[in-house]
Amino acid sequence: MTSVAIIGAQWGDEGKGKITDFLASKMKAVVRFQGGHNAGHTIWVDGKKSVTHLLPSGVIRPAIVSVIGQGVVVDPAQFKKEVENLKAGGFLISPQNLKISLNASVITIYHQLLDQARENKSSLRIGTTGKGIGPCYEDRASRRGIKVSDLFNAQLLPDKLARSVEEKIVLLGHYDISFPSIEEETKRLIDLADYLRPYAFETYGLLNEFQKKKEPMLFEGAQGLLLDVDFGTFPYVTSSNTSVASTLTGAGGFLPEERWGVLKAYTTRVGEGPFPTQMEPEVESRLRKFGNEFGSTTGRERKCGWLDLPLLKYAIKFSNLNGLILTKCDVLAMMNELQVCVAYEFNGKTIDESYPGLDLYQVKPVYQKLPKLEKISDCNREHLCDSLQQYVDFLEKNLQCPIHIVSFGQDREELYLAKSFNL
Ligand code: GDP
Ligand code: IMO
Ligand code: MG
Repeated sequence: MTSVAIIGAQWGDEGKGKITDFLASKMKAVVRFQGGHNAGHTIWVDGKKSVTHLLPSGVIRPAIVSVIGQGVVVDPAQFKKEVENLKAGGFLISPQNLKISLNASVITIYHQLLDQARENKSSLRIGTTGKGIGPCYEDRASRRGIKVSDLFNAQLLPDKLARSVEEKIVLLGHYDISFPSIEEETKRLIDLADYLRPYAFETYGLLNEFQKKKEPMLFEGAQGLLLDVDFGTFPYVTSSNTSVASTLTGAGGFLPEERWGVLKAYTTRVGEGPFPTQMEPEVESRLRKFGNEFGSTTGRERKCGWLDLPLLKYAIKFSNLNGLILTKCDVLAMMNELQVCVAYEFNGKTIDESYPGLDLYQVKPVYQKLPKLEKISDCNREHLCDSLQQYVDFLEKNLQCPIHIVSFGQDREELYLAKSFNL
């Protein structure tokens, strides 16, 4: 059966958690393959809210195997906290249905301190989540990082940690940040290793077994395509490739047949960086209020803007998406007007698709006004109200990509499945 990748098509927080949870019922496994607990994926079932950060959103369905793949950066303390919180909320989580790759990279306290020091004290502020994501990926690339498997070798761990910390001590000193000794950090990690051990697994082999048996798998992306370290709005990006390409490196050998981008009916962004279609403050604060646009991980206000087709066309192209999912249409319907950015004016020319290196601080959005969304309460699993159907038709035509699912509420059941949806 078909495997699917669910990828954020904007700057994150598009509603990937809700869609992953909905599709998970059809899957054998749900796999995270990049990012870490910088993610915040929200799921509402029967009025009860759950937010996953490091864990795949499949964990709230005990029959699904949830896998943290090798491309993920793992904070062991966060792993424990999240598992315990979900268990306390009544979810059945065990080493049978949750596996973490032995080859995943470990976020240490030094990564977190360095991430936060740079945000507070360096001349380049990215607006990161402060979770240590960037410094951990740096250590992986410089071959000084620690893997989950290293946590289970108490003899070698102090040496590996010392090697990884050697240069970081200089950096932390530069920012005048105090930090725990290697002995203290080793002890903390060894204590956490006992908790992690039953969940640690050779996930590459497991996923290959599933593939051999043609079991359907869902690859749950974190962040969004415009935060991709190569194709995103560099330097205001995260430190991983957020595109479908990472399923190969982050899970191992899988390139899903279905590659679906999730997009809000408008645009939001957290952190620093350009945002061409940001709304006027008054309109923006209305949308933020209606859409509850505050970060699921840091609680920060999300900046809000109109939908940006030049950026979406670019994201669809570089990530080779073959389907789309449109979310938060009920929120857009609460606005008094509906505009979409269809092109940019840049250097005296009109361009309708973005590209790597385009200076998004210098573009001027060209907006098209569309009929306001109405009668959203008429939408259900088989039917879209006329105004929303017209919006969907407009987007499919402009983006040249089918929209398979349309979401008009936060609950698991509040979505429409188009005729093109085939899973
Ligand atoms: P993710 O990071 O992509 O999983 O998205 P987040 O969970 O960070 O943010 C999306 C927010 O929108 C969450 O609070 C969801 O519950 C909510 N949400 C998702 N789809 C819809 C929708 O169609 N309508 C409304 N009103 N809320 C939605
Ligand atoms: P989900 O999976 C929205 C943003 C941060 C910052 C930049 C770099 O919930 O969509 P990092 O901590 O990754 O080094 O921060 O990326 N960012 C997100 N924005 N949703 C996310 O995840 C994000 N993860 C990181 O705000 O601008
Ligand atoms: Mg989120």
